[in-house]
Amino acid sequence: MAGAKNILVINGPNLNLLGARQAEFYGTDTLEAINARLEKRAKDAGAQLASFQSNAEAELIERIQQARRDGVDYIIINPAAYTHTSVAIRDALAAVGIPFVEVHLSNIFSREPFRRESYFSDLAVGVLSGLGARGYELALDFALGSRGKE
Ligand code: DQA
Repeated sequence: MAGAKNILVINGPNLNLLGARQAEFYGTDTLEAINARLEKRAKDAGAQLASFQSNAEAELIERIQQARRDGVDYIIINPAAYTHTSVAIRDALAAVGIPFVEVHLSNIFSREPFRRESYFSDLAVGVLSGLGARGYELALDFALGSRGKE
């Protein structure tokens, strides 16, 4: 199957603090550094990649709705704390119908019990959790090489 050409990376609340936030869970890379690596990797593969971060649920929903109008064909999303709470963001992803990979820097299954529930995983093409910033890169490599469920 053809690879994704127009990829959107979405990061939820508090991920703007990466690099200065609980390094034991989230590592030392800043979000800017992660996004720059992803942009280069996508460009080298002949695809375009945009990134968006917000601390606000409504803005994340608006951006997902916008993605369909923009012709985005793959989403990589770390919904952060909204993973465990947001039916509204889940519904937005279901509504636009764009395949997505769910990424978590930390292993959400090895932390507090409330982090084990995700409103996204059953809709996701796949989930990467606990691989740090590499998770985004692995998700991108997957997106560049495929489309949707295989
Ligand atoms: C996170 C895990 C979430 O439980 C947490 O609320 C985050 C980040 C991760 O990347 O490991 O903010 O999504």
